[in-house]
Order: sequence, then C-alpha cells, then structure tokens
Amino acid sequence: MPDKTRVDLSQTQEMPPVLDESPAPSPVFGGAAAGGPGPFTAPGPLAAPGPFAPPGPFAPGSVVPGPVAPAVPPAIAPRRLVELRGDAVSAWFGTHHVLDRVSLTMPAGQVTALIGPSGCGKSTFLRILNRMHELVPSASLAGRVLLDGVDIYEPGRRLTDARRAIGMVFQKPNPFPAMSVRENVLAGLRLTGTKVSAAQKAALVEQSLTRAGLWGEVKDRLDAPGGGLSGGQQQRLCIARALAVRPRVLLMDEPCSALDPTSTRVIEDTMADLKHEVTIVIVTHNMQQAARVSDQCAFFLAEAGTPGVIVEHGSTNAMFTHPQDPRTEAYVEGRFG
Ligand SMILES: Nc1ncnc2c1ncn2[C@@H]1O[C@H](COP(=O)(O)OP(=O)(O)O)[C@@H](O)[C@H]1O
Ligand SMILES: [Mg+2]
Repeated sequence: MPDKTRVDLSQTQEMPPVLDESPAPSPVFGGAAAGGPGPFTAPGPLAAPGPFAPPGPFAPGSVVPGPVAPAVPPAIAPRRLVELRGDAVSAWFGTHHVLDRVSLTMPAGQVTALIGPSGCGKSTFLRILNRMHELVPSASLAGRVLLDGVDIYEPGRRLTDARRAIGMVFQKPNPFPAMSVRENVLAGLRLTGTKVSAAQKAALVEQSLTRAGLWGEVKDRLDAPGGGLSGGQQQRLCIARALAVRPRVLLMDEPCSALDPTSTRVIEDTMADLKHEVTIVIVTHNMQQAARVSDQCAFFLAEAGTPGVIVEHGSTNAMFTHPQDPRTEAYVEGRFG
C-alpha cells in the first residue's frame, strides 16, 4: 500500500528519504493511460539564444571572450531546456489521500496544461513539483520528481535548489506592494541565495521584464511601487520575478483567473514566447485557454471520494478532438466540473 512508503514531511525540515519504493503506477490511471513512465530522455535541445541580448556592459563586443569565457555572464546566458517528470506521485493531507500514483512527463520547451474539476489535486501536484507541499504541516507524499532525470527529493538535494530551478506563479498576483518594480524583480535572488553582481542586476531586470512581456510598460517607472501596477501588470511582474532566478521550469497555478480578458491574452502571448526558454506547467479551468496555450494536457479527476488520478493525457489537439475516455470528453465539452 502506498501508505507504507509515504514520507511524513512534518517530521523533518531536511529532505525525506528516497521515495522510489512506491508501488508501480496503476496500469489504468496515471501510468499506462498517461503514457507510462518512459525511460529518461536525453537532454533536450539547446535553447536558441533568446531575443534578450543584454544591453550596456554585457553587449557582445564589450566583453572580451577568451577561448572558454562565455560571451554573456552565466546569470543571463540562455540555457538548455529541460524536462520535468512526476513518477508515481501520491499525496496526503493527514489521512486524506488526495493524489494516487500520478505519473506525468512535462516535456522540455513545451507548455503542459493540468485540467480537471476543483479539488482533484492539480494544485497539490503542482506544489509537489517544486517542494512547496512539504510546507503544509500535515502533508506527506510518495513518488519521485525528476528534473532533467534527477530526483529533486533525493537525499542531500536542497529545497532552495529545487525552488530556484522550478519557479512558481500563483493565482493572485503577489508582488511586494511597497517595493519598487526593480526591487520586485530582484527579490527572488536574495530569497533563493542567487548571487548576481551589481553590474549584472540592471541587465537582469531588463531581461526578466522583457521576457515577462512587461518591459515596455514599466521601463520608465522602475522605481515606482509594484503595488501601483494594474492586476495584469502585477502578474507579469511576478512572472519577471520568477524568471530572474533563471528557473528551468515555470509552474503557473491559474495565473489568469483574477485577470480581465485583455491581460489574460497578454500573459498567454508571454507564455508562447517563454516556452522556448523554460518548460511551462499551467493549471487552468479555462478550456479555451488550455487549447490556446498548451502543447499537451493532463486531465485530473477525483471521483466519489477517491484520490485524484490522471484519467488521460496527450497532445492538446488529441485531447480536445479525440479524447479516449468519455469522462475527458464530458469535461472538455463543459458538461461537468
Ligand atoms: N492545505 C491543505 N490542507 C488540507 N487539505 C487540503 C489542503 N490543500 C488542499 N487540500 C485538499 O486536497 C484536495 C486537492 O486539492 P487541490 O490540490 O487544491 O485541488 P485543485 O487544485 O485541483 O482544486 C482537496 O480535497 C482539498 O480540499
Ligand atoms: Mg487549485
């Protein structure tokens, strides 16, 4: 039973033991239906250099690259895209079993949408992907989360490393309201212990705001308080703050549900650009949004008091046009949830 293998995260701040003793994923849910936990994939393709050539002191040519020196500082250089994979992930709050052996590969450089009715465990799964679940005192989990093939829950792996590599944007924009736009972008560096020289900070602020689709709107008000921006701008500021620590994966939990349609569209456009630089996982209840922004979808469901599972996953096009399971079809057509 999974209960024997689960780790009570409230017992320890340091990392739980290896969690790979959990039973094989169910052949019906999460495992075979979700495509099965395939072999570790080879590292993804190299990220194309983004359009964010750093200005000023980092402009190509102003740095004299030696034979091995990078042309741009590591803090802002483009990097390889990586895959994230949940392997037989189970979760509990106390004795309440909320996820059962969920396996899902979130491919490098793609947008994966997690869909399904409220309460089926989407947010819990997302929080397990960057080690936020363990902050809840009664919470426990089993399974593995592999970032580029390495389990973030492996003994000795640090929580801050997982958080830095796997960023999160929440439903409600949560910038530090009294901090300036610039300080908000840089705030994550301190929290994750990321070191960037003073000289690199200006370039990083511009790059992060550009990547978040906000630079043009705030470049003349970098010292104004973040709380003075509109809701949609604040959400993009939060995206910029998450991007500034150079995550490999960006998790977004209903990032547009508090925004108007125009701001929603701007964030969706931003995601389309970002997926070439960072692997994206988004929870959304908006089926049109899932169809617009995602490459693949996973349909979560918790039926009649049972824990959440993935009923079906696949390319977004297939999920919306030829769902394999009648429950998926009913959900994507808006017949329940
Ligand atoms: N902090 C918590 N403490 C106890 N139960 C929780 C907590 N967060 C979520 N749950 C429960 O876990 C289940 C899954 O919730 P959640 O992951 O938020 O679902 P979703 O995001 O799909 O709506 C629900 O039954 C919810 O009530
Ligand atoms: Mg949720």
